[in-house]
Amino acid sequence: MKRVIYLDYNATTPVDPEVQRVMEPFFNERFGNTLAVSSPYGWEAQEAVESCRRKIAGILACQPDELTFTSGATEANNWALRGLVDFIRTTEGPQTPIHILSSPVEHSSILSPLRFLQEIGVTVEFLEVTKEASIRLEDLKAKIRPETRLVCAVWVNSELGTLNPIREIAEICHHAQIPLLADATQALGKFPVSLAASPADLVSFSAHKLYGPKGVGLLFHRRHGRKVQLRPLLYGGGHEEGLRSGTLNVPGIVGMAKAMELADARLEENRQCWLRLQKELWDGLCSIDPGVRLNGPPLGQRSPTNLHVTFSSWTSQSVIPGLAISQGAACNSANIEMSAVLRALNFTDAEAQRSFRISMGKPTTQDDIQQAIRIVQKYVR
Ligand SMILES: Cc1ncc(COP(=O)(O)O)c(C=O)c1O
Repeated sequence: MKRVIYLDYNATTPVDPEVQRVMEPFFNERFGNTLAVSSPYGWEAQEAVESCRRKIAGILACQPDELTFTSGATEANNWALRGLVDFIRTTEGPQTPIHILSSPVEHSSILSPLRFLQEIGVTVEFLEVTKEASIRLEDLKAKIRPETRLVCAVWVNSELGTLNPIREIAEICHHAQIPLLADATQALGKFPVSLAASPADLVSFSAHKLYGPKGVGLLFHRRHGRKVQLRPLLYGGGHEEGLRSGTLNVPGIVGMAKAMELADARLEENRQCWLRLQKELWDGLCSIDPGVRLNGPPLGQRSPTNLHVTFSSWTSQSVIPGLAISQGAACNSANIEMSAVLRALNFTDAEAQRSFRISMGKPTTQDDIQQAIRIVQKYVR
């Protein structure tokens, strides 16, 4: 295959060889089911999963029983939203008024279930965001009502690389006794994520954004101190203490724990490397298009792996040969429609067509950056 420069690591990442190595035994010789505990196969699988849960709890600064494994962040976000509303309605009555506050620049795995909840009578109100896609704390305080039961705030925006002030948002929510759902899918591995320092109550994660396997993630849900209660989304054999039925993806969980361990251990080293490449890329783009605009926060205040740019001109409508980046719709770039994030920030169609998310990862080299700049140069006038 002709070499394609991959700069779309916010969409997904390759599995780290160290992660792959620890997963391998769990595909064949250690293939047990965690619920089949009448033989060493089941015990071994159970012990592997519980040891991963303890390891991840140590990394995230929470308790192991607050972590539930899922098929990814989409499921975790759907479960948090629907499980909370289900719990309120079954314990307080089906007519209980429920008001949810959300930023308008959430991932579709928050925005779509919110639309579903609106259809079943939940009131959803969107917060104001700055032009850099960050929540305005004063607006959050002003919009909280007695019937507000949840606030949704993405930790790091997947398109613009904006870091929300999660600790301050969590403090406001704490004070008002409202749980906070924070999607940390794009935060882990790029910023320190401590659930003790930033006390959100529901937090979603995904393995494939940090060099782990696809199809595995988790939901943190606070069960100590200020508890958040959820009804399950998936009912069945009673796995995960009855909270999430379905045979556990043991190789995936083992891989996710290793990926999180590596991300945590090399956080600063990776960040420094990405910050240098990010600066080089931005300088290169400015030199080929002096009118290029950086969307989201300035360098140094945004995700170290991400640039979101609008070129002053763009001459192609189609895929860029030799370069994998996201145009217009970011995570949904199969159809180049304007994303909800860009729409919320009032991008015009023409601007969205000239806008790209370029995201670097662990394998990115200086040579990749220089080649990417040369390729982009062909398309800006
Ligand atoms: C911020 C954010 N949340 C959720 C998801 C969905 O994650 P998953 O692919 O694990 O379902 C993504 C992935 O694109 C994301 O970037």
